[in-house]
Amino acid sequence: MTTDTRPRTDATQDYDPQTLWQKDKDHFIHPFTDFSVFHEQGCDLITESDGIYVEDSYGNRFIDGIAGLWCVNVGHGRAEIGQAMAEQATRMAYFSTFNNLSNAPAAELAARLAELAPAHLNHVFYSCGGSAANDATIRLVHYYFNRLGKPHKKRILSRHNAYHGTTYLAASLTGIASNNWDFDTLDHLVTHLSEANCYRRPEGMSEADYCDHLVAELEETIAEIGAENIAAFIAEPIMGAGGVLVAPAGYHARMQAVCRANQILYIADEVVTGFGRLGHFFASEAVFDTQPDIINCAKGLSSGYAPLGATLISDELYEVLGTPQGKGGVLSTGFTYSGHPVSCAAALKNIEILEREGICANVREVGPYLERKLKTLAHHETVGDVRGSHFMLCLENVADKTTKELLPVEARVGDRVAAEAQKRGLIIRPVGHLNIVSPPLIWDRGVVDRVVTLLDEALTATTASLRADGYL
Ligand SMILES: Cc1ncc(COP(=O)(O)O)c(C=O)c1O
Repeated sequence: MTTDTRPRTDATQDYDPQTLWQKDKDHFIHPFTDFSVFHEQGCDLITESDGIYVEDSYGNRFIDGIAGLWCVNVGHGRAEIGQAMAEQATRMAYFSTFNNLSNAPAAELAARLAELAPAHLNHVFYSCGGSAANDATIRLVHYYFNRLGKPHKKRILSRHNAYHGTTYLAASLTGIASNNWDFDTLDHLVTHLSEANCYRRPEGMSEADYCDHLVAELEETIAEIGAENIAAFIAEPIMGAGGVLVAPAGYHARMQAVCRANQILYIADEVVTGFGRLGHFFASEAVFDTQPDIINCAKGLSSGYAPLGATLISDELYEVLGTPQGKGGVLSTGFTYSGHPVSCAAALKNIEILEREGICANVREVGPYLERKLKTLAHHETVGDVRGSHFMLCLENVADKTTKELLPVEARVGDRVAAEAQKRGLIIRPVGHLNIVSPPLIWDRGVVDRVVTLLDEALTATTASLRADGYL
């Protein structure tokens, strides 16, 4: 697999890095900022990118180990995506898609998505990202049951440690407790079930028994709340930001069967897993043998070149959503930028590249190698678990591998590992005590070897610093 080797144009340094850093610190409220360090340290500004690399404003070059934010699936600096966007922007940058209006890229993309998705998902509702897709989905699901004359079917089942975004509703679906500290959530709409966490499953329980246990919890919850009050279950095929948690074998199919038996819709949040990260355009059916009523995608849909989200809706739901309301009513939901032509043009070119270069096949080939190589890092004193699948992986750092006890939060172990990696030219993502590796899908075995060497060094240095600071 070749990476895009566009020669690096020497960055036209049209800014002073220090001034830029200051402007950012003074005026940009960043998502997920840790203000205990931000006011002093500000941010590293990423200003250039190329293939598997990014570069900061001082010219330091890094291997991108997180695909931007699990999204730059085809890699950076794809001039042909830029060209497709520029052509669309100059030809027809924007026009409404409300009511009776549409545009060419949005129509083409909807048809492409219907081809790529499981057979029964043939209808696309566009949004501008993953949170908005999930938010819009819940609104549509409620509308669907209202239209069916089942207005009590409102509750959404989600899971602890799920990540579904940060609009009010998506944040309420999200089950990572720290994400909602001091924020309010719409608790009357959402019930969280246990996440499927094989590493921290009850002591002595086999994976198969654990699966039974989780399915039983779903059945008990339905019995408690009443199926007549539950609209849908939403789940990431592999939980991402909540710790790259791979459920026990058969879990998703069994959860879906219980949902189906209770007329509870099954929503797969494929914002991360979609568009190749697990080796297929969509993981739900190809990997997990489920046929969701709805699949949400974003991120890899446009490889992050333009903001875009899409909700793929089954024929069965569309039949109801597409029935005229009467009384002159319309399906009153959507965004100014639903089906934005420039974003859709980016997505079409992105899909063309994914197919032309066999990027899903690369993930199926290199992914297991990456998993195997990362697992060799488990010998480090602080690495309790290495898990995930294909290009979606994670290290869980612990104080004690036997008890799985965590290091104190103040040790900031995830930050330490990430900082040591960054010093060595690799960006990985710290999330609390975890480190996530979710690279562009164009890594080859050679890159994997380099990355694992860098991580090995970073973990050795982290252990030494934790020991020096009295945490080990
Ligand atoms: C599974 C999942 N769903 C939804 C979202 C939210 O997407 P966005 O940040 O584009 O709103 C994310 C973002 O990381 C995600 O991982």
